[in-house]
Amino acid sequence: MRKKTEGFEVLEVNEDNETGARTFIAVHSTALGPGLGGIRLFHYRENTYGCEPEKAAEKDALRLARAMTYKASMAGLMLGGGKSVILADPDELGAEERKGLFERFGRAIESLGGDYIAAEDVGTTEKDMESARKTTRFVTGVPGEAGDPSPVTAFGVLRGMQACALHCFGSESLKGKTVAVQGVGSVGFSLASLLAKDGAKILAADTDGKKADRAEKELGAEIVEPREIIEQECDILSPCAFGEVINRETVKKLNCRIIAGAANNQLESPEMGGELFRKGIVYAPDYAINCGGLISVANEKVVTGTPYDRGEVMERTEKTFNRVLDILERSSKEGKPSNEIADRIAKERIERERKGKSREA
Ligand code: NAI
Repeated sequence: MRKKTEGFEVLEVNEDNETGARTFIAVHSTALGPGLGGIRLFHYRENTYGCEPEKAAEKDALRLARAMTYKASMAGLMLGGGKSVILADPDELGAEERKGLFERFGRAIESLGGDYIAAEDVGTTEKDMESARKTTRFVTGVPGEAGDPSPVTAFGVLRGMQACALHCFGSESLKGKTVAVQGVGSVGFSLASLLAKDGAKILAADTDGKKADRAEKELGAEIVEPREIIEQECDILSPCAFGEVINRETVKKLNCRIIAGAANNQLESPEMGGELFRKGIVYAPDYAINCGGLISVANEKVVTGTPYDRGEVMERTEKTFNRVLDILERSSKEGKPSNEIADRIAKERIERERKGKSREA
């Protein structure tokens, strides 16, 4: 069922007949190209973001789609913004049931004719992408192509973090710096591995005890209680778990100089960027620093028409350093929060391309 939503090109809400899962596909903008963004499989509980599970899932699909538009624009890609959410409890889906769900969801993606291109996201795997690929061409991240984007995302976050360090401490080196990593899942663990190689001291927290143990054993991370990670005294806080980590409650407890992490929508509202700025905390806007994964999946043949090129992906992701540094320098010069500067840069590029296109037409 198509739902008209102000400011968005598409919001498609359906129910999967076999599993009862509610599905949401949002396309924010195709001004620069098709809306590429992950499929999130998540069991939203009552009161997530203070609303019913369905509202929370819809809210996430919409705002994550908008963030993808800005992320693609900031990364210099000819792509728009899209995102999808499947509201279901992954623990209650058997392997066959899950395969069927993604095959049927692939048909919904196909019906949009390429305006939305799917990828892996929180709760979904390469295998799920393979299932969806059975019924739609418009899916990236299948085995044998770009694969798991997380290590590329982690590399981009590291480069962005180093740009923050240069801006804040006068050197990009993270040696001896204390970095608190919230969530050592796919991106967080890869990032922590890179940080360990760079000689940083790592504090880590994860609600999944096994993941925390792995970070402790393999990387020598000091493990902290999940609810306490935000307030740790550290040089850099790196949110790599979920959104809205910086909110009215947590902003008072922060004990860091820099916030630089992979999570999408780290700020509960844009005003939180202002709060951070006033407190003198350097914030690397989430979509400017976590675009490596998008750059990776956007390099797949379904998007470019040419074979995946890892070298090009790493080269483009490396530029995260300069992009983040530019945002921070403008933020200091203009006396404005970094999230405001990033939004302006992303919107200006979309406008420029839009005008260029209308001149060509
Ligand atoms: P993941 O699901 O592999 O890792 C998230 C980790 O956070 C899990 O280990 C989970 O147990 C942990 N966690 C959940 N709640 C927590 C809490 N309250 N405290 C501490 N840990 C908690 O997900 P992934 O792929 O690593 O993504 C992490 C974040 O980065 C997400 O917000 C995602 O949207 C974002 N992101 C991921 C990209 C990628 O390439 N995978 C690309 C861009 C953004």
